[in-house]
Amino acid sequence: MNATPTFPASSPAPPNGQRDDVVLRVEHLKVYYATPQGDVHAVDDVSFEVYRGEILGLVGESGCGKTTTAMAILRLVQPPGRIVGGHIWLDGIDLVRLSERELRRLRWDKISLIPQGAMNSLNPVLRVGEQIRDVIEDHEGRQPRKALKERILHLLHLVGLPSRVYNLYPHELSGGMKQRVCIAMAIALNPILIIADEPTSALDVVVQRVVAETLLRVKEELGISIILIGHDMGLMAQLADRVAVMYAGHLVEIAPVRPLFKTPLHPYTQLLIESIPSIKERKPLKLTEGLTHDLRNPPPGCIFQFRCPHVTEGCRTRRPMLQDVHPGHRVACFLYHEAVASGGTSPQR
Ligand SMILES: Nc1ncnc2c1ncn2[C@@H]1O[C@H](COP(=O)(O)OP(=O)(O)OP(=O)(O)O)[C@@H](O)[C@H]1O
Ligand SMILES: [Mg+2]
Repeated sequence: MNATPTFPASSPAPPNGQRDDVVLRVEHLKVYYATPQGDVHAVDDVSFEVYRGEILGLVGESGCGKTTTAMAILRLVQPPGRIVGGHIWLDGIDLVRLSERELRRLRWDKISLIPQGAMNSLNPVLRVGEQIRDVIEDHEGRQPRKALKERILHLLHLVGLPSRVYNLYPHELSGGMKQRVCIAMAIALNPILIIADEPTSALDVVVQRVVAETLLRVKEELGISIILIGHDMGLMAQLADRVAVMYAGHLVEIAPVRPLFKTPLHPYTQLLIESIPSIKERKPLKLTEGLTHDLRNPPPGCIFQFRCPHVTEGCRTRRPMLQDVHPGHRVACFLYHEAVASGGTSPQR
């Protein structure tokens, strides 16, 4: 397995101090898309860490910047998008500063992506075995055939696919099988981190479960860290160790999965969790009033102010930073910051 990542002396200590198993640290990341009407602030000052062997869920409504964050981590943001600020530390290296050549080695090797709609990106004219072989040989050079085939069969086995899949074309596979082939490709080079962008959307619930269990197995058996992007809060509750909530390009809350679901702090997270349907207790779906602001023109103050049921005058002029309210539970909301500053931890409403 890979060695413990080290951070250069110039990198500040993690905000919660004591953890030394940080695999990826994103610091003040900003990604903007240029448009004729001005820059879209798709990711605006986002900071978080991913720890070794954990699944970090990244959730938030459509357009909040999840995929842009993922693409920035891989330095794959396409024009008119660009990284305008921040650092992305992976294994002691700041990815933001690497050349394209250096990056090419790192992708797949240390960090791999299961892109949104991945199963449709498999090459239709190559058999599964050949596609996985190409990933390995592109990075490691030509390999002895027999050993390489054994390695690919082992990868297929790890993601729960039978050996015959080696000789099949993508069109001969179900959606869930294709998605598991994508996971096999993502783990082929023993990365330390996988980013899976909505790996179960467009699959029925039974197949979703199989793919989810495959990701869990990858985490548990190989110790690989995973950033799992998705909308499905039920799936997050089952899979994630910690969950980060994004709203309009900002990270508004990050916490271990249990406290996040049991005592969500940010008003947006509360709305997300209240909107999970339940058959036991049927209730009208809670709709959030107001619209997300134009991302080209973020308001001064809190970015959730137009939809927040607890908004105050102060929220319209000052922006709350992401701060620890309990150890490991960070939120960007004055309701809690002021309570913490005055010596308590319960919100002041
Ligand atoms: N090429 C582009 N030009 C201008 N704006 C863009 C471009 N690509 C993305 N955006 C904007 O950036 C913001 C973030 O988009 P992103 O795809 O990261 O969201 P997301 O959270 O992944 O959404 P989804 O859940 O729908 O996949 C959106 O407001 C989107 O409109
Ligand atoms: Mg997306």
